Amino acid sequence: MAINERFEQLVREADLNSPVPEHEPERQAWFLARAKTIIEKRAQEAGRKMTFRVETFGCQMNARDSEKIIGILESAGFAEAPSEDADFLVYNTCTVRDNADQRVFGRLGRAGHLKKNHPGMKIAVCGCMVQEKSNVEKIRRSYRFVDLVFGTHNLYRFAEYMCTCIESDGMVVEIWDRADRIVEALPVARKYPFKSGVNITFGCNNFCSYCIVPYVRGRERSRTPEEIILECERLVNDGVVEIMLLGQNVNSYGKDLETSCSFAELLERVCKIEGLKRVRFMTPHPKDFSDDVIRVVRENEKIARHIHLPLQSGSDRILKRMNRRYTRDQYMALALKIREQIPDVSITTDIIVGFPGEEDCDIDDTIDVVRTVGYDNAFTFIYSKRAGTPAANMPDQVPDSEKNRMFDRVLAAVQETAHGRAEHLTGRVMEALAEEINVKDSSYITARLSNNMLVHVPGDPSMIGKMLQVRLDECRGFYFFGTVV
Ligand code: 5AD
Ligand code: SF4
Repeated sequence: MAINERFEQLVREADLNSPVPEHEPERQAWFLARAKTIIEKRAQEAGRKMTFRVETFGCQMNARDSEKIIGILESAGFAEAPSEDADFLVYNTCTVRDNADQRVFGRLGRAGHLKKNHPGMKIAVCGCMVQEKSNVEKIRRSYRFVDLVFGTHNLYRFAEYMCTCIESDGMVVEIWDRADRIVEALPVARKYPFKSGVNITFGCNNFCSYCIVPYVRGRERSRTPEEIILECERLVNDGVVEIMLLGQNVNSYGKDLETSCSFAELLERVCKIEGLKRVRFMTPHPKDFSDDVIRVVRENEKIARHIHLPLQSGSDRILKRMNRRYTRDQYMALALKIREQIPDVSITTDIIVGFPGEEDCDIDDTIDVVRTVGYDNAFTFIYSKRAGTPAANMPDQVPDSEKNRMFDRVLAAVQETAHGRAEHLTGRVMEALAEEINVKDSSYITARLSNNMLVHVPGDPSMIGKMLQVRLDECRGFYFFGTVV
């Protein structure tokens, strides 16, 4: 587990008899040192290790945030528990669609029961959901057993909150409306030793009319290229071979920096890191996708042959109301240019159906784009009304039954076009990163192709984390069976 060495040193050097440091990251190091002594004492008293569990909902950004939370908990001396029955339980939440909120509240209710039989158990809720005031109110009112609530902008203070929480009773609630800084150099526990996400921007400035993200994650902030490269280099030194650059709209990377560096330039710089074998990025916005980025992807074999290009709708009328700032023709021209210029690229997308005012003729337009682009995979979502977004106040909300019917139509089209898209690769030998033991048959290893498709090959755990040359023997629609050559 990669714990940042400089931070570890700060923790070792922290003087618990002196006042709490004001500056970061010294302040967090001090709280972590303090938490360590408490956890150690509790473990001795209990005659067992103190345990934690982090449950993550939502996107890649949240997954990365959870790695940061786990980094702190492990540094404090907690060991991971196999279930939610843990001494320190964290729900890192998502609020992009309403069903995500409902799932968290359901799980939280059950955690309350666990707590009754688990003396000293602490429960924390963080992430996008609690950036919404109404959810915090609901927790205060109906989930009083929760011990800690903190938001997305102050995650870097988790060591401080966690320490305060284990030392005291009562609910600690700390939510900020905006980020005051980007704090580097905190410990991170990676889920996979061989691959990692790296944040390049936080927040979003686009305000698509259905989307809650700009309200809960705030305005776009880019990390400097130097910080990003340094983090990537450290990860590679620590055994990472694949990096995914993360941001809500990676294409607008750098626009807020004093010394300008475009996303294309950043990609090129990341590719130059020796020892790094594969680079991915998530998520580009079609309106900002430059020819430079296409060129850089084409020219750098290290960059995955996979572009996730959210469409959301194929109807100009709906796109306008969604505030997406592109037309269906512009989108299709871009997608086709990507296909033409980057051989073997796979293109995937997100689609929302049932947006206010949407009718069958709009769904026809969406299906038409699906067929023209021929997505390799598509995530279709039923529109979910998010309070505070412009779309939530649009008068012509679509009834659920209609939304479901439209969803089925789009899904059928997506499945029809995506199925067999991979067929043409059958027989080819391609590079694949071995990621894990196959869940159904442990004599197989599951590996990921550059185009993000999975291939299952006979193998053993020693292969995990290695780049393999794999022959794609048999296509099963969305994945392959293959052999290492
Ligand atoms: N309802 C349904 N889907 C949404 N998404 C974002 N906001 C909503 C919403 N209110 C989808 C978009 C986005 C993906 C991450 O989630 O398709 O690309
Ligand atoms: Fe939401 Fe649009 Fe920003 Fe994506 S680009 S996070 S959909 S507002």
